[in-house]
Amino acid sequence: MGVGEPWARYLRALGREPLPSALVDLDALEANVDRLLAPVVASGKRLRLATKSVRCPALLERIASRAGEPVIGLMTYTAGETAYYAGEGAAALGAASAIARDLLLAYPTVHPADAALLAEANRHAHAKVVVDELAQLAPLAAAARQAGTSIPVVIELDLGWRPLGRALHLGVRRSPLRSAGEVLALARAIAAEPSLRFAGLMGYEAQLAGLPDTAPTRAWQNPIKRALKRGSRPAVARARAEAIRALGAAGLAPELVNGGGTGSVAWSSKDETLSEITVGSGFLAGHLFDNYAELAHAPLSPALHFALQAVRRPAPRLITCHGGGFIASGATGEDRQPLPVGPPGCRLLAAEGAGEVQTPLALPAGVEVALGDPIFFRPAKSGELAEHFDEYLLVRGDHLEARAPTYRGLGRRFLG
Ligand SMILES: Cc1ncc(COP(=O)(O)O)c(C=O)c1O
Repeated sequence: MGVGEPWARYLRALGREPLPSALVDLDALEANVDRLLAPVVASGKRLRLATKSVRCPALLERIASRAGEPVIGLMTYTAGETAYYAGEGAAALGAASAIARDLLLAYPTVHPADAALLAEANRHAHAKVVVDELAQLAPLAAAARQAGTSIPVVIELDLGWRPLGRALHLGVRRSPLRSAGEVLALARAIAAEPSLRFAGLMGYEAQLAGLPDTAPTRAWQNPIKRALKRGSRPAVARARAEAIRALGAAGLAPELVNGGGTGSVAWSSKDETLSEITVGSGFLAGHLFDNYAELAHAPLSPALHFALQAVRRPAPRLITCHGGGFIASGATGEDRQPLPVGPPGCRLLAAEGAGEVQTPLALPAGVEVALGDPIFFRPAKSGELAEHFDEYLLVRGDHLEARAPTYRGLGRRFLG
């Protein structure tokens, strides 16, 4: 065991904590904050923290405090979470509670109960919500009228790239709004509704921000993905610029234009159409973010790990851990599994992968694991692990500095 190896430090920090446990390496987290903030600051833009990719207020506080003044607010993922930060959740952000005054719910909702939460949230905060079609306005407007508040509304423009027309859509499926004219029509409808306020534009270039392009699995696709990314950049910038121009010409200039994500932070920061960049995943750096060409010159530091207990030895050179099936969401594939990292060289078995109650591993030659030893893994994504743990152990060097409750530990499960 190399003394300097992170997993060896984590082993010491973990001591006799119960297993499984989840650990956040504070030095790595801080390095990631500095790394991701640098391009945003260099371009004079604002940083919005994507809560979905952290799900732990005390960590959001640390990130916001480290990043300082450029942090403008939070990008939230449900109405319930938005209402939480507009209310008691602000205090959970400690010294960074001010960022809870600027909330942007990035995913539409039409449920009256959600609309009511958003309307209420606007008594205490600017709680904006994303929309992309007319039918989403009525429940928001009704709730705001009822509460006697006004809900600020942000329109999302689709930035999927279609080099061959409808036959090929490179991007995600979010908004149906493809043109400046469509955005303008919806902005006019918002402006005509007394209990709503048109607040801005979201243009999330998911095919740049969230598509790994140096991945070890299906590596033959990487050059194609990089070429497609290169090809889509001018179209992304152009579409955002056209929408902003059309809105401005109609007297509806957006207060904010939000875009970007961890995987596109450098490019998006340089795009002058954006006023703010959203970042979340890169702070904890789930292992999917090891695989971005854009981040390769200054890679992120793995900051989030979990430890399982080795409980059986089914055969020589095999051990089996208890638990471990923390599979990330999205299009399913090998890359969504956790990555064993300590001891180095352990591998998941293709036939079983990471199982909910058992995870067998192949051990490399020369590595011995005793029953009860912790085995360290990294999750594929940054936020979802918090749904499986009540607290994160915050590690500095080789000691436990603090503990931070996750949403789950705070009794909050915003996704049901
Ligand atoms: C609208 C939006 N912007 C930005 C992001 C990027 O966040 P992250 O840095 O976690 O990839 C996301 C994440 O899914 C998102 O939905």
